[in-house]
Amino acid sequence: MPPVDAHGPPLDVLGRPLGNLRVSVTDRCNIRCAYCMPEAHYEWLPRKDVLTFEEIERLVGVFRGLGVRRLRFTGGEPLLRRDLPALVAGVARLGLDDLALTTNGILLESEAARLREAGLHRLTVSLDTLHRDRFRALTRADALPAVLAGIGAAHRAFGTLKIDTVLMRGVNDDEMVPLVEFARAHAAEIRFIEYMDVPGANQWHPDALVSRADMLARLAAHYGPVTPIEDAGPAPADRFRLPDGLVFGTIASTTTPFCRACDRVRLTADGTLFTCLYATEGLDLRTPLRTGADDAALAAGITSRWRERTDRGAETRLRLASRTAFEAPAATTPHLQMHTRGG
Ligand code: GTP
Ligand code: 5AD
Ligand code: SF4
Repeated sequence: MPPVDAHGPPLDVLGRPLGNLRVSVTDRCNIRCAYCMPEAHYEWLPRKDVLTFEEIERLVGVFRGLGVRRLRFTGGEPLLRRDLPALVAGVARLGLDDLALTTNGILLESEAARLREAGLHRLTVSLDTLHRDRFRALTRADALPAVLAGIGAAHRAFGTLKIDTVLMRGVNDDEMVPLVEFARAHAAEIRFIEYMDVPGANQWHPDALVSRADMLARLAAHYGPVTPIEDAGPAPADRFRLPDGLVFGTIASTTTPFCRACDRVRLTADGTLFTCLYATEGLDLRTPLRTGADDAALAAGITSRWRERTDRGAETRLRLASRTAFEAPAATTPHLQMHTRGG
């Protein structure tokens, strides 16, 4: 018998509960990471379409009512949104089990303590290299010192943080050990991420992929045997321990997708709901929100979309006979870009 959802969050066609909301607060970014925003020009979401903090808080409240307990703010770069701590404070009042933020860290130095005071539980900062020239080449911005200052401030304000590193062969895969040691020095848990062929990652190529197996072999060659940590959660990271006790993670969405357990939904900055990182169709929540729909009507729309969800985007990609970059979405279609979906 198919699972029922009478007493909990809605279940999709594969029995996956709606559990984790990722809210992109802006599609804009202040850098241009080669794996995410490789193009020279992008078409941004029209400003009038971008949800206000009040609108975001209202939608989060609707998701909260449907049983969502975990929320992550993403971008683009979320700290480009002026006074983001005010939004964090508003959402924190709704009472969530997990309230997190993913940032590139450039604007973090002055915001970390305010985010903590506003009620943010935890921070993840992207960091792909410790070399200033390489950072510039990867992102088209000379911003490594700002990122490092941001990580320092996050460490002081939160005591700990996560670091996300997308590993690319021939680009930064010689930095695994220095990055592990950097994470150790900042009480951070580093996660090495397989390069994903998501919409918008137009330069993706199988040769650039460093697989999880390869990552683990490289770390074991330096540190000695790594031990998996049993962890049953639906989060994408698998966690491991080095012989010296340090914990790190891998996110192997490319070679080992976690679609079977995926409880994630994404809200873009203009209020479009996507049930998969690879989905090409979203559900417009902005129009009902702005034309008088009450919370019950919004909840009904979200529930019915979730119940018809069959997405297994990363698994579908894995089954392709020959794999190249996702059929390039034009830079003029913001909804089909990774940066609009929040990574
Ligand atoms: P934790 O809850 O701290 O584990 O965070 P997270 O891993 O959900 O969030 P984060 O923003 O740090 O994402 C880390 C990596 O996982 C990024 O490279 C994302 O692209 C990838 N990722 C995040 N969500 C999804 C998803 O829904 N599907 C797939 N296939 N990959 C995802
Ligand atoms: N592959 C893997 N991760 C990606 N991200 C963005 N694009 C990709 C990609 N092509 C993730 C990174 C970054 C976060 C914001 O989004 O983890 O740190
Ligand atoms: Fe979830 Fe889609 Fe990512 Fe699979 S590819 S884990 S279904 S968002």
